[in-house]
Amino acid sequence: MILYFSATGNSKYVAKRIADATGEKLISITDCIKENIHSFTIEPGEIIGVVSPVYFWELPEIVGRFINRCEFFKTEDPYCFFVATYGRNAGISGRNIKADFAERKIKLSARFDVKMVDTYTPVYYVNDEKENDSINQKAEKQIDKTIEQIKARETGDFMINIASPWAAKLSRIGYEKARLTEFFSVSDSCNGCGKCADICPEGAIKIEDGKPVWKEEKCLLCLACLHRCPQFAIQYKKSTQGKGQYTNPNIELE
Ligand SMILES: Cc1cc2nc3c(=O)[nH]c(=O)nc-3n(C[C@H](O)[C@H](O)[C@H](O)COP(=O)(O)O)c2cc1C
Ligand code: SF4
Ligand code: SF4
Repeated sequence: MILYFSATGNSKYVAKRIADATGEKLISITDCIKENIHSFTIEPGEIIGVVSPVYFWELPEIVGRFINRCEFFKTEDPYCFFVATYGRNAGISGRNIKADFAERKIKLSARFDVKMVDTYTPVYYVNDEKENDSINQKAEKQIDKTIEQIKARETGDFMINIASPWAAKLSRIGYEKARLTEFFSVSDSCNGCGKCADICPEGAIKIEDGKPVWKEEKCLLCLACLHRCPQFAIQYKKSTQGKGQYTNPNIELE
């Protein structure tokens, strides 16, 4: 089974490539949370993998929370892997998930990372299509290699760009300051379609009087609402203006 969390499609695309190549089931963590599915049987010979983005050098909180709530029934130790999709540095996401699986009595066999378009538009630009294409073409090679390693059940730490735990601690302080929903605004181009509310993995948005309203003080900051709004009506502070909207072009998102 290949479990994935994805706000803008990079991780979903990688997870689907792996699922197609291995014949494993593709399972959305967001869907499982919405449907309250937290128990899984791992059949003998079945593998378990998680594909996820990196947020502020860590595993997104929602993924850790999900793994921690799960029960995995197994008769033998499965091959278990993690793939981080990241823009610049995968931080300590591999360490995070290793610890989460250890709590569930599953040993992480291998961890990988794939560099993809960085969706953190409060800082980075995603509006240069040529640059995005070039990043995605390079990513294909890394995905191909990762799939071969998974199929061969290779074990070890194959992550390339990682950070030290102390540096990640500093990054977490930045995350806590950044993830306040008061920083989001909506422009007049919003037509009240409700998509942002439907896709928010945290259920943080409600539509009131035809406009989104953020109901939680903090959210994941996954930016699904911003990148997937059909009107590009959502901004984060002034810092996302002019930086573009991005979803992975190789995969369909709802
Ligand atoms: C809030 C946020 C924080 C991010 N932090 C990092 C980071 O620390 N390091 C990094 O390399 N990429 C970071 N990124 C980029 C994403 O991890 C990367 O683009 C990922 O492939 C997105 O996956 P998705 O399309 O499946 O959601 C961040 C993106 C967001 C939205
Ligand atoms: S997705 Fe965009 S247009 Fe639709 S309600 Fe949300 S902000 Fe408005
Ligand atoms: S409000 Fe937007 S950025 Fe925050 S968790 Fe929901 S979709 Fe992601």
